[in-house]
Amino acid sequence: MRMQIDILSLFPEMFESPFSHSIVKRAISGGHVHINPINFRKYGIGKHQIVDDTPYGGGAGMLLKPEPIFEALDAIKEERPETKKRIILMDPAGKPFDQAMAEDFAEEEHLVFVCGHYEGYDERIRTLVTDEVSLGDYVLTGGELAAMVMVDATVRLIPGVVGNKSSILEDSHSTGLLEHPHYTRPASYRDLDVPEVLMSGNHGKIEEWRHKESLRRTFERRPDLFKELELSDQEKEWAKEFKQN
Ligand code: ADE
Repeated sequence: MRMQIDILSLFPEMFESPFSHSIVKRAISGGHVHINPINFRKYGIGKHQIVDDTPYGGGAGMLLKPEPIFEALDAIKEERPETKKRIILMDPAGKPFDQAMAEDFAEEEHLVFVCGHYEGYDERIRTLVTDEVSLGDYVLTGGELAAMVMVDATVRLIPGVVGNKSSILEDSHSTGLLEHPHYTRPASYRDLDVPEVLMSGNHGKIEEWRHKESLRRTFERRPDLFKELELSDQEKEWAKEFKQN
C-alpha cells in the first residue's frame, strides 16, 4: 500500500529539497509514499486570493481564514473519498511530536498536514483536524519545517522503506532508551581506543555492554526518560554504579 501525504502550505516549494534526498527520496521512487504539497492560496478569497485577516476583538497579527482550509480539505476528500485520513494541524500549542507519534502516523494510509503562518488559525479550522501537533517548545515562522520533520520521521518507519528492520527497532527513543555508542574501524585513533569487548566476538558480552551503555546514556542525558523505566535487578545494580560516577 502506498501512503498518501498531502501538505497544505502557502510555501509548497519549501518541501522540494528535503524530500529529494536519501531515504525519503527512495521511499517516493520505490512507491511507498506519495508526497503532495498543495498551495492552499488557490482557495483564497477573491481576485487577490486572500487567506488571512485580522482577529475579531482586536489584537496583534493576522489569522488564517477558515474558508481556504475548509475548501482545500473538501477537495482532498473529494479526490480520495475512500481513504481514512489523519488531518494534522501544525501548532506550537499542540501535543509534542515524538517517536510514538511517528510510529502511529506510519500505520496510516493518508496523512494531511496543515501548515499555518501568521499569528494563528481561526478557531473553526480546528473542527476539521484529528490531531494538533507541535514540533517542540519553540515558535517557528510557520508549520512547514515542523511538517518536514514529522514526514521524515514517519516515512522511514513505513514498512519496507528502511531495509534493515533491526536498525529501526534499536533507534534511540523507540525502546524508551537512548542508543548505545557505536564504533567502526580503526580500532585505535589518536589514542582513542574502541572498547575491547566490541572486538571480542563474544555476542552475549557485546549485547550486555550495549544494553548497559544505552542505560548509562539515558541516565546521564535524559533523567526524564530514565525515571519511566522499569528496571530489572541487574539494571538496578548498574544504576547504582552510574549514580556513584
Ligand atoms: N508553527 C510554529 N511553531 C511551531 C511548532 N513548534 N510546531 C509546530 N508548528 C509550529
